[in-house]
Amino acid sequence: MFATMGALGLAPTAQAAPRETPFRAPSTSDFHLTGRAAARVVIVGGGIAGLTAAYELGKAGYDCTVLEARDRAGGRNFTVRGGDTTTDLYGNRQTARFADGHYMNAGPARIPQWMVTLDYCRELGVPIEVFTNVNADAYLYNESAGMTRPQRHRTAKADVYGYVSELLAKATDTGALDAELTADDRERLVEFLKDWGELGDTLTYEGGERRGYTTVPAAAGTPGVLLGDVPAASEVFASGVGRYFSFEFGFDQAMLMFQPVGGMDRIPAALTRAIGGARRIRTGAVVSKITDTGSGVSVTYTQGGRTRVVEADYCVAALPPNILAKVPHNLGSGVQSALEAITPSSAAKIGLEYRSRWWELDHRIYGGITETDQDVTHIWHPSYGFHGERGVLIGYYNYGADADSYARLTPKGREGRAVAAGVKIYGAKYRTELVSSFSHHWRQTPHLEAAWHSTPGGPDDPRYRPLNEPTGRVHFAGDWLSYTDAWQHGAFTSARRAVTALHTRVLAE
Ligand code: ALA
Repeated sequence: MFATMGALGLAPTAQAAPRETPFRAPSTSDFHLTGRAAARVVIVGGGIAGLTAAYELGKAGYDCTVLEARDRAGGRNFTVRGGDTTTDLYGNRQTARFADGHYMNAGPARIPQWMVTLDYCRELGVPIEVFTNVNADAYLYNESAGMTRPQRHRTAKADVYGYVSELLAKATDTGALDAELTADDRERLVEFLKDWGELGDTLTYEGGERRGYTTVPAAAGTPGVLLGDVPAASEVFASGVGRYFSFEFGFDQAMLMFQPVGGMDRIPAALTRAIGGARRIRTGAVVSKITDTGSGVSVTYTQGGRTRVVEADYCVAALPPNILAKVPHNLGSGVQSALEAITPSSAAKIGLEYRSRWWELDHRIYGGITETDQDVTHIWHPSYGFHGERGVLIGYYNYGADADSYARLTPKGREGRAVAAGVKIYGAKYRTELVSSFSHHWRQTPHLEAAWHSTPGGPDDPRYRPLNEPTGRVHFAGDWLSYTDAWQHGAFTSARRAVTALHTRVLAE
């Protein structure tokens, strides 16, 4: 009836993309008249999933204890600021020297509008700002294709779209698509391609203002000088720049995107405050055993050299699967083999702090990403602090073997290799203006040992049933149990799912 009313304009119709099953946070009023009471819950892992479980269960008065092995909550949501120290699994110890107000988001750094992460920012009062994921003025540089200079994203895009449009328009015009299209379709397609590729009347691409200028248009007398040297189609295809343009079409990478003002860790910081801080979250607490006793769960951990135990009615296991697989438990071989089927992946970032924002001053690049086939892969210009005195660039954001090969170097060696790659794109200031650096490699980070995970068959594969359903008194949560692995959205929604299941059983038992 509601849908019919909507169709008649008598009720609001949903315009937004449908969300997951609506989540209803547990509430103290759920216990009124039921004779039940909120239970004690031990949450293993203080990343986004674990913190969210504690936060949502806390709304109904659950007595939650979060055990976090690192010295801070947040898990892979890790913002590095001046004074922060890490030691990786190779023993490299680094202390960040970034100036006040400057930071790098070593883990999550961008949030699409559709993700529930923004709902938590709103609810928790975490201010957000635009994160520039795609910038027409950033560079593309494919060294292996023989490029000797970087190209602006806009220039490469104009050429790729131009020539693809030209070829398709000519093919259409010479009858190659007559079997697929009516005469009207062909005419409309050619009209579209002329606009899409900035083609002339003869359906040829000859460049134009989309590529950019050597002298930009200004006052009367200065019409601007177009970038010359439009490359031939075969040169454009050989450069391989075309592969960068589908990125912005991705459902999870399309602009606009957002980031919390001041660093991504504003999210775990706000969750921590809302949960009750140190009263609820024990840091430096390394879990060594999980035992389902039948009537409860007993979790053993070491903290400061001492072994302790938390007894609770239920457990939410929110460690990464590769870490959880190493913790002795009595949850059965189904749980263990499911955990072991999920494999960890590598990713890394280096923050390069510069004494000036030369990329804004000399290159007029304000945020966004430069793409290259060198092993640094992605270079991120900061989306905060514009026109400030200094800034932190991400000198590499790379994955897999590239990330691991940088990890094997000393921090100084990583910096040297990253800077050498950047100099090829931006010139000498990439080296001479550098004041400090900090590199972070997730596969080599104690207690996490992964940037994200690969879940063969997807999270709903039957082999993961012991993780998606509670096993005894243990519920599991994490981005790795979601369709948005490597996004906080996955951790939030997975935690909500575990919270709903746990609360439902507590109300029913
Ligand atoms: N979500 C991660 C990113 O945006 C993988 O790079």
